[in-house]
Amino acid sequence: MGFPKGFLWGGATAANQCEGGYDVDGRGLANVDVVPLGKDRFPIITGEMKHLSFDDDHFYPAKEAIDMYHHFKEDIKLFGEMGFKTYRLSIAWSRIFPKGDEKEPNEAGLKFYEELFKACHKYGIEPLVTITHFDCPIHLITEYGGWKNRKLVDFYENLVRVLFTRYKGLVKYWLTFNEINMILHAPFMGAGLTFEDGEDKDLAKYTAAHHELLASAKATKIAHEIDPENQVGCMMAGAVYYPYSCRPGDVWAAYEDARDEYYLIDVQARGEYPNYFLKRLERKGIQLPIEDGDLDFLKANTVDFVSFSYYATRVSIGADNDEVEFTPSNIFDSVKNPYLASSEWGWQIDPLGFRTTLNSLYDRYQKPLFVVENGLGAVDTPDENGYVADDYRIDYMAQHVDAMRDAVELDGVEMLGYTSWGCIDLVSAGTGEMKKRYGFIYVDRDNDGNGTLKRTPKKSFNWYKQVIASNGADT
Ligand code: BG6
Repeated sequence: MGFPKGFLWGGATAANQCEGGYDVDGRGLANVDVVPLGKDRFPIITGEMKHLSFDDDHFYPAKEAIDMYHHFKEDIKLFGEMGFKTYRLSIAWSRIFPKGDEKEPNEAGLKFYEELFKACHKYGIEPLVTITHFDCPIHLITEYGGWKNRKLVDFYENLVRVLFTRYKGLVKYWLTFNEINMILHAPFMGAGLTFEDGEDKDLAKYTAAHHELLASAKATKIAHEIDPENQVGCMMAGAVYYPYSCRPGDVWAAYEDARDEYYLIDVQARGEYPNYFLKRLERKGIQLPIEDGDLDFLKANTVDFVSFSYYATRVSIGADNDEVEFTPSNIFDSVKNPYLASSEWGWQIDPLGFRTTLNSLYDRYQKPLFVVENGLGAVDTPDENGYVADDYRIDYMAQHVDAMRDAVELDGVEMLGYTSWGCIDLVSAGTGEMKKRYGFIYVDRDNDGNGTLKRTPKKSFNWYKQVIASNGADT
């Protein structure tokens, strides 16, 4: 009983939040590089404010991040010590194609990831690779308008052909787009979108999403052709929506809010735009730029597994309910659930909601699930040796692993693995802070970029090691 044999325990990161080395070995500039720390970050993320280069008024945390570009051997060795079976990381597109539309890739970029994958295998760690984690080469935004433009499907196809060919035998688990539903909430990060005055934002977002869905289906097809061993997953920012009350209006709102997030995964996992979504578009007067053959292609190339991030459940209110309080959550605010505790950043903590989310995704898609992000962003206070006794993180994670075990053992949910978010401290995607730490490994660097970058295992490091060694039994 418990977790299946071969369950892939590990940790997750994203290139722009940990690699740094933004201009080395021929790497081009990407949207994620020019998103600064501070009050302007959020409007840039959401595409409301255009910001496509560096200026002297801001600090850009992704430029150096935790410099994993130069520390990856040391970092992966530590992951090996914890007993990781898998390590989720993302490719920086602009390392491979600096501008995005070149015909030939940048060998230095390819070499970097090759070395990294080999370092993983040295410790028996299976890489799990996100092809794009919020990143898009700047040139594809300035010249083509980001994912609004169908040409990006071809550029992405070029990228994935190169990756699948070059890393055949080194990588077999792939995710096409990180949190694809973030296009709707954070379109600059999700799809390289910025908006002109008066532009129909919904049309732009749904068009970009259609292109990403096509690109994802192409990647799935090509991955299987190049190596039948390849397993391709979609990835959503997951979590069920609770109705705020049993008022029918709140219940209906929860149903509808969930559909906003599900529609993309419905296409990737079931192969069809759901009727509720098509009806919504009709009501909004939006016509998707669907070309001949698109729908058949989506139908024929669904993913092998469904992956998702889970941080907190969400709460919905009907139009007639205006008595509620809001709290920050994963990128977008959510109604505050009065029954839950919150992290220092206001993200609510709900292990049972994790079990509910696992069940609802499995009921809906009947495909194996992979939890590829989960964790607690917290302020850590190291002692004079850099050691952090992070019992609060252990407590959070133990409750979530227990909830996941219930989903597997008691509910029969089929799962491939679990990678906790930010297994080594890294830059926060939402705020750009270093102070918001998720790791089992402390990195000496602060919000302003000061620090030695020294890595020190926290108390949770040994705790997670024991969880992995016992295949999740010993939390
Ligand atoms: C997810 C992203 O939305 O949440 C990660 O895929 C991100 O990139 C994570 O880091 C946690 O969010 P934050 O804002 O705390 O970094």
